[in-house]
Amino acid sequence: MLWSVLLSLLLLLLLQVQLYVCLRELRASTPSTLALLPPVPPPPVHANITATSISTAQRLPGAIIIGVRKGGTRALLEMLNLHPDVEVAKAEVHYFNLDENYRRGLGWYRAQMPFTLPGQLTVEKTPGYFTAPLVPERVWEMNPAVRLLLIVRDPAERLVSDYTQVLHNRLQRHKPYQPLEKLLLLKDDDDDNNDDVDDGGDGVDHGKGRHRRRIDPGYKALQRSLYHVHFQRWLEHFPREQIHVVDGEALVRDPYPELRKAERFLELTPRIKPSNFYFNATKGFYCLVSAGHDKCLDESKGRPHAPLRPRAFRKLCHFLREPNKRFFNLVGQTFTWC
Ligand code: A3P
Repeated sequence: MLWSVLLSLLLLLLLQVQLYVCLRELRASTPSTLALLPPVPPPPVHANITATSISTAQRLPGAIIIGVRKGGTRALLEMLNLHPDVEVAKAEVHYFNLDENYRRGLGWYRAQMPFTLPGQLTVEKTPGYFTAPLVPERVWEMNPAVRLLLIVRDPAERLVSDYTQVLHNRLQRHKPYQPLEKLLLLKDDDDDNNDDVDDGGDGVDHGKGRHRRRIDPGYKALQRSLYHVHFQRWLEHFPREQIHVVDGEALVRDPYPELRKAERFLELTPRIKPSNFYFNATKGFYCLVSAGHDKCLDESKGRPHAPLRPRAFRKLCHFLREPNKRFFNLVGQTFTWC
């Protein structure tokens, strides 16, 4: 009798040990079961409000991408936004260049900014700032220590891209438009019968009776491509070291090195990695990868350019040669533009 009681107790003990081992194995081998559990509920609303009001706020930008229009400003902004210590204003703000916005005051400007934690850098981009005469002084008055970024590309290509954007906008709104060549080239009065005579390929007029169409210096998109004129104005208010010039063509070819330089200029801990970029063959440009999500810029960036005959393009390049040299002298850097 005693033996049978002892035997049953031993069996019971063995069963319990087996059950315990089984349960442990099950827990260790199925971590995904956590995913089946309901998510942890968010903290109560009052706790959220306290945390937000203590830590995050809308702050004036510590850095501004001032231009150039069609230079790659959106790409640069989105790429800087990969950095965990950077928050960007998603839309262009146009505070310093549009009087109706500027009149609204700094409170309005601040309200356009994203919420940031202390120590994070707020960045906005408005390419119209670069060419608007009053902007450098206004920016300086807001904060003379603000860091400025200027992304440039070949000004001839920029002009064609600028025209292409205007053309798309006009087509969308069913508005009339003129071909680029008509806007870019002036026609001399005595030229009516000499429309298609060549200039010898160097963009210079050669003698009587030959083709006399020349670049119209008043064309707005060309004015925006005279970088030295606008850069000079910025230098009247900001020291050269406070303006970081990004090479737009280099950013297209290989974004990472340009981003690394920008991080250094902004005194950010290097956090952007080459793995944040991958070349998308369909788009024909680098796209961004962040937290497992990838993102390409929208179709208005990198679209085919409006046509411009090679001869007219050469004239444009010839016209820009001197302005480009002046710009190189101002920035202390040369670029391989046409
Ligand atoms: P194109 O459309 O002429 O090719 P912005 O943002 O200042 O308007 O500049 C637009 C330009 O950004 C585009 O001009 C394109 O060349 C350039 N760009 C640079 N990096 C890009 C990227 N990763 N994806 C798309 N466009 C990019």
